[in-house]
Amino acid sequence: MLISIGVAVVMGCSIGAPIVGAMSAVVIYESLRGNTQRAGELIAHELTASGMPAIACPIDQVDLQALSEADTVIVGSWTDGFFFFGQRPGRPWRLAKLPVIDGKKAYVYCTYAKDPAQTLTHLSGIVARRGGDVQGGYAIHRKNLKGGAFEFAARLLDSVETTSEDAAAGAGAKPELEDASS
Ligand SMILES: Cc1cc2nc3c(=O)[nH]c(=O)nc-3n(C[C@H](O)[C@H](O)[C@H](O)COP(=O)(O)O)c2cc1C
Repeated sequence: MLISIGVAVVMGCSIGAPIVGAMSAVVIYESLRGNTQRAGELIAHELTASGMPAIACPIDQVDLQALSEADTVIVGSWTDGFFFFGQRPGRPWRLAKLPVIDGKKAYVYCTYAKDPAQTLTHLSGIVARRGGDVQGGYAIHRKNLKGGAFEFAARLLDSVETTSEDAAAGAGAKPELEDASS
């Protein structure tokens, strides 16, 4: 049951609502200057408002209790590179310390300025190596954090619903979130 959608901050994590009930999510972000943090907090807020309680935590202060209870993990990063080549998730050594999330449904997002190129693919690899079952990703332009976060949350909720329906029907198809940059 959703008790509150007020925002509080506990141990570095922004809390949209207490994680109580069936489906919950944790957003874990790596942010240098705040855009990816802001996007993560907006995503957590949108999911919570839509009935999936979620919190957003920086990569170095993950709420392990909330993570262990969550069904869905969302990992976000900024795009690092030379703007038109060499793009990858920012500070990947920090992302590689993501707690193990064996078997949990995972989604990725990145923020970018010009072109994220293969950033989401690299990020998906990092998350998969920590055990996440990556369902899809979405790139959010830094000038449209709110719109991008809203779109990401809507697509994630659609994807979760479709996957549950497929599971009930015995199908194994994984819906893909589209990359906003393409
Ligand atoms: C060192 C550095 C390299 C960057 N390289 C790229 C790049 O190759 N392509 C791109 O689209 N954006 C690039 N950006 C822009 C960031 O990915 C973008 O501003 C992002 O939203 C920053 O997120 P943050 O505020 O959470 O750190 C770069 C930013 C920095 C600081």
